[in-house]
Amino acid sequence: MLEGINVNLRVMEKEDLPLFVEWLNDPEVFGEYNPLRQVSKTEVEKDFEKGTIEIMDFIVEKKDGSKIGLICHFTLVHPAGKILEIGYSLVPNERGKGYGTEAVKIMVDYLFLSKDVTRVQACTDTRNLASQKVLEKAGFKKEGTMRQYLFMRGQQRDACLYSILRKEWKEPKILTKKVEKSK
Ligand SMILES: CC(C)(COP(=O)(O)OP(=O)(O)OC[C@H]1O[C@@H](n2cnc3c(N)ncnc32)[C@H](O)[C@@H]1OP(=O)(O)O)[C@@H](O)C(=O)NCCC(=O)NCCS
Repeated sequence: MLEGINVNLRVMEKEDLPLFVEWLNDPEVFGEYNPLRQVSKTEVEKDFEKGTIEIMDFIVEKKDGSKIGLICHFTLVHPAGKILEIGYSLVPNERGKGYGTEAVKIMVDYLFLSKDVTRVQACTDTRNLASQKVLEKAGFKKEGTMRQYLFMRGQQRDACLYSILRKEWKEPKILTKKVEKSK
């Protein structure tokens, strides 16, 4: 469990799969700037059992244990090296309360603390202002626009590429607070 101030991130377990499937199949949860997708429970269970390490999903939980969304990290394989990227979504009634920003900050702390990587990246539809704000508040910098990068609701869309480098992150922003408290 990665403990934050208002939310925790917990690795997704088998018992979370019914809710995960429900969220994946609900276009409202992933919002208008994520691909439209419908999945079966069987398909999701098979993927989960395969235990791929290329994508790691975490449930975003409030301190009372209620499940309010997802954040994941995944690896894109490029001949010159592996690229670490994150993605996230919150249920509609829990947006706009700072939880998205906190979840991203916790994930960035975790990735730089646990993996020997020099950068973490994220990409988002150019129209997705909430997501861009979250990334900027979490210390990411915009690198540019990738033209017609995402296939979204029947159309090719431009996307912004954001990244944070280890040297910009410098030190944990949230995870150490717990360490200091427990000392
Ligand atoms: C993107 C998302 C995770 C943001 O999470 P959140 O918890 O709502 O974001 P926060 O409350 O931390 O807000 C971050 C900032 O974005 C701003 N913001 C929120 N919605 C906005 C909007 N529609 N337009 C512009 N700014 C917006 C907030 O005001 C806040 O800035 P402030 O602190 O200066 O006021 C959430 O909107 C979501 O789940 N959207 C649907 C799925 C999605 O698009 N995922 C990202 C795919 S790349």
